[in-house]
Amino acid sequence: MARLGVNIDHVATLRQVRRANEPDPVHAAMAAELAGAHGITVHLRGDRRHIQDRDVEILRQVVKTRLNVEMAATQEMVKMALTIKPDQVTLVPERREEVTTEGGLDVVLNSVQLKPVVRTLGEGGVRVSLFIDPDLQQVKEAHKISAPAVEINTASYAEAANDRARDEALRKVTDAARLGRKLGLAVHAGHGLTYQNVGSLAALPELSELNIGHSIVSRAVLVGMERAVRAMLEAMNRWVTTALDARELH
Ligand code: PXP
Repeated sequence: MARLGVNIDHVATLRQVRRANEPDPVHAAMAAELAGAHGITVHLRGDRRHIQDRDVEILRQVVKTRLNVEMAATQEMVKMALTIKPDQVTLVPERREEVTTEGGLDVVLNSVQLKPVVRTLGEGGVRVSLFIDPDLQQVKEAHKISAPAVEINTASYAEAANDRARDEALRKVTDAARLGRKLGLAVHAGHGLTYQNVGSLAALPELSELNIGHSIVSRAVLVGMERAVRAMLEAMNRWVTTALDARELH
């Protein structure tokens, strides 16, 4: 089964609306790990709208699984990553006015800028994943600039208006994931995944990591982080078991 990376940004969002010191994303990370999360993901944005430098520094010390920091490929962030040394950095595009990350990186257009960032982080011992749309050219370019991993943007799958659009979006994610594996990349996926739609992705053997935030934190507000994470792991596991059973029947 793919690893579950729990994105705790929105615990920090709740704290920042009051500029208070609770809820603490560090506590949320601990609870998520106790419930079986395989990793903790945070997005350190240039505008620091939710996660703060202090959060990443403390998380680096206390996270026992894997710390994945999403960030823009800026000089400021690269310096930060080389100081804090998370287990993984996921490079994402960032626009100040966006509510959440919109679309993947254009690796084809920005390969000249991205290549040295991937190399510098790699040489500093930080594994790099590139957040990209499910587009074969982007996967090929990620491989060309020696990124060890990609995270496929599942927004178009998650936001599909009907079954047909969802199937088509899933096919694109699957094709991109297959090509990524064929080229030797680790393939992750995320954005917009929920308890209801995670199944088809959890069943894809090409994916080794799913990063899920908003849906888990939304449930955690009502039932607590541990229950919310356990329920997501169960939802993922249920579909893996169903997919394996289906393959055995064939
Ligand atoms: N992966 C990436 C690269 C993201 O930017 C985000 C949102 O911060 C996520 C995964 C998680 O998305 P969601 O909060 O919709 O689960």
